[in-house]
Amino acid sequence: MSRMTLKKINSLKKNRIGISALTSYDASFAKLIDDCGVDIILVGDSLGEVIQGYPNTHSVTMNHMCYHTEIVSRAIKKAFLIADMPKNSYETKSQALRNAKKLLGTNMADMVKIEFDKKYLGIMEHLISSGIPVCSHIGILPQTISNKKDYKRIGKTMNEANRLIHEADLIEKAGSQILIVECVDSNIAKKITKNLNIPVIGIGSGKSCDGQIRVIYDLFDISFNGAPGFINSENIRLNPIKKTIDKYIMNANRYKI
Ligand code: KIV
Repeated sequence: MSRMTLKKINSLKKNRIGISALTSYDASFAKLIDDCGVDIILVGDSLGEVIQGYPNTHSVTMNHMCYHTEIVSRAIKKAFLIADMPKNSYETKSQALRNAKKLLGTNMADMVKIEFDKKYLGIMEHLISSGIPVCSHIGILPQTISNKKDYKRIGKTMNEANRLIHEADLIEKAGSQILIVECVDSNIAKKITKNLNIPVIGIGSGKSCDGQIRVIYDLFDISFNGAPGFINSENIRLNPIKKTIDKYIMNANRYKI
């Protein structure tokens, strides 16, 4: 199977075929997910939580992102690879461009992701006009919240809903080519998905987006800070890793006797 491209991802949206996306941070998981045929892999700055064990993503640096992006890129053959730009790495136009270029290219990512705020619109436009493929992220923005208890669904009030719909519109008009919506009210996520021509990928935002993305460790219920509530309600906690380790320890104990 050939490499996933943005053109193919767009055609999935057009043909109403759901887009699958998962995060990955290391070679073994990346190869496994890629072999399974996932469409998009995100090297997320969620690595601050699930790999580094912090309560949030704020500790993640450009060096960390480059390290993990290179590792994942080496391990995959097919999936489209997106890398997060970490907190404080896109505060000015020149800083954003310099950092985005570090994450892209041969043996690195195909696209960078930024958490959108109106104040970043000019920076995003600068990246795009400089030829950088950009994925945007709206709704809950992990780079602006401190821990899991600050997660709440966004878009329930008229004000929030209008702001999200407006942001999504601005993002598409600016030339961003994929949108991720996190913890957005499912009706608003559905509306945004209908309004936009670019693929809209949801996390905790209902079933009507063009695709779904999850943190891989949440799927296995091994995330350092615990999995978010919507993982529970989707009933997709598998936990085979814990079962395998439990079994291994039981056997190891037995050898000792
Ligand atoms: O960093 C990350 O893993 C993400 C996903 C939650 C979308 O941004």
